[in-house]
Amino acid sequence: MNKILKWTGIVLSVPVIGVAGLVGWVSLSVSSRMNKTYQVPPVQFAVDVKADIAVGERIVQIRNGCVDCHGPDLAGKAVMDNGAMGRVYANNITPGALKDWSDGEVARAIRHGIGKKGQPLVLMPSHDYQYLSASDLASVVAYLRTVKAVAKENQSQKLGPIASMLLVTNKAPLLPAEKIEHTAAFHVKPPETVSVEFGQYLSDTACIGCHSPNLKGGPIPGGPPDWPPAKDLTQTGLGKWKEADFVKAMKEGINPQGEKIKAPMPTALTAKYSETEVKALWAYLQTVN
Ligand code: HEC
Ligand code: HEC
Repeated sequence: MNKILKWTGIVLSVPVIGVAGLVGWVSLSVSSRMNKTYQVPPVQFAVDVKADIAVGERIVQIRNGCVDCHGPDLAGKAVMDNGAMGRVYANNITPGALKDWSDGEVARAIRHGIGKKGQPLVLMPSHDYQYLSASDLASVVAYLRTVKAVAKENQSQKLGPIASMLLVTNKAPLLPAEKIEHTAAFHVKPPETVSVEFGQYLSDTACIGCHSPNLKGGPIPGGPPDWPPAKDLTQTGLGKWKEADFVKAMKEGINPQGEKIKAPMPTALTAKYSETEVKALWAYLQTVN
């Protein structure tokens, strides 16, 4: 009898130890990646790099959607907060909260996805922002210094079990710093005109994070399960579209079938894109197969 009990105990405990071991391994692996220190120095701008506060405002408020995550007043909000995925909190980036940060440290957070202590930032879309030109990046920092300071405490980041599994199995790039080539040179920004080059600059810095680097769309990395996949923006996806269809999609959030384009496509922001921005994007997308 004792023997049977003993064996049953062993047989039953194997999966329990297995599961406990897996959980332990997952949490160790997650914390070693989240607590890694990156030896990337704060961004140093060349002396001839000019910051333009109005350009920074346009990038933060409209073009690059910082307000979508950091909140309309930029004082921070939860990007997601549920049991399975955990909590991801987009921090307060108003002057009070960043008063101990140098401009180079703020720029490093945006361009490299690296926090003040050198740690990788969770879900901050630096995989797009790494392509901002030096002057656009300097303009963003300059603008952030001018917004109204709001005293609001940050909440801690806490990855839930599903997010942890996605991270260890590399199914979702929750830590963009891991994927960025930190020694790359700045991209050069073409003049803001209706051109393929400016369209590509906008797409690289504002669209590929969701529509994927080849613009073929698909499930959005790190997004919750109720988000629809991003659509294919190459000629395979948009081949039959006319320019007017694209303008309507961007300005009114309606596709050629007359359907409302769903979140998280940031249609409230693309509605505010200028004619130049929309037409440049259209010119570029027609070259992408
Ligand atoms: C998809 C959501 C999202 C968008 C869009 C986004 N951020 Fe973030 N950002 C975050 C999250 C989440 C954090 C905190 C990550 C952490 O602490 O690990 C963060 C952190 C930061 C930090 C570091 C602040 C700190 O206290 O650690 C800065 C600076 C920042 N973001 C600036 C920007 C700017 C500027 C833009 C637009 C160009 C932007 N963010 C767009 C989600 C976002
Ligand atoms: C935060 C994620 C996100 C970002 C950033 C984003 N998109 Fe989207 N986009 C989506 C999703 C998701 C859909 C599909 C929505 C649906 O199924 O209704 C979509 C749909 C579209 C559509 C409609 C396509 C169709 O076939 O109906 C167009 C056009 C589009 N996006 C263009 C852009 C452009 C251009 C940019 C950059 C300026 C951009 N998107 C940035 C998530 C995003």
